[in-house]
Amino acid sequence: MFQELHHPLIQHELSLLRHKDCPSPIFRSSVRRVAALMTPYLCADLPTTNTLVTTPLETVEGNCLARPIVLVPILRAGLGFLDGFLDMIPQASVAHIGLKRDESTLQPKTYYSNLPQGIAGSDVILLDPMLATGGSAVEAVRQLRAAGVNSIRFACLVAAPEGVEVLSHACPEVSIFAAALDRCLNEHGYILPGLGDAGDRLFGT
Ligand code: PRP
Ligand code: URA
Repeated sequence: MFQELHHPLIQHELSLLRHKDCPSPIFRSSVRRVAALMTPYLCADLPTTNTLVTTPLETVEGNCLARPIVLVPILRAGLGFLDGFLDMIPQASVAHIGLKRDESTLQPKTYYSNLPQGIAGSDVILLDPMLATGGSAVEAVRQLRAAGVNSIRFACLVAAPEGVEVLSHACPEVSIFAAALDRCLNEHGYILPGLGDAGDRLFGT
């Protein structure tokens, strides 16, 4: 399943941060707001369980999340998405996967992976602003599956059709949410029109 999120506030932020002259501090805070605005869409079908709540006056039926949520940012750029999701889901825990795309082969290389033991029973939201060839997302899902996770949602800012196709084909069980579905990749694997290198723009490198 692929969903492009057309909310006016998301599209407004995206139009600001795409601009080549948007400075890092503005870019960072805008990505954080987009992440927060995307959260309700990502979480709309999370399972809940019934519970009884005692208010100061009486007892009422309520609903709680059935499983823990684990946010998994793909380093580095996924970190830019993290705080916005944590603003909305403060009880979530965070696990990290570090991937770097080789600039000539465009293949991802893992340089860090820290998935907690209990992650198998969690609802995982995988975070990466850019879905380009899809190689990094597929590798991250492979690692999560190997850790026993079977509930994975993928959040990105900008997706290329090529990456959506690769990820959907390799991991059909993963729901993909993007603020924008862009046109295509260029010969260097960058998304067009895109926003450039998300990691560099977030961290001012
Ligand atoms: C970027 C981006 C994704 C990946 C997407 O990260 O944040 O992780 O490229 O490309 P793909 O879909 O073709 O795999 P990069 O490897 O440049 O590392 P960075 O986040 O440290 O900048
Ligand atoms: N990674 C980025 O940061 N930007 C792109 O356009 C593609 C991959």
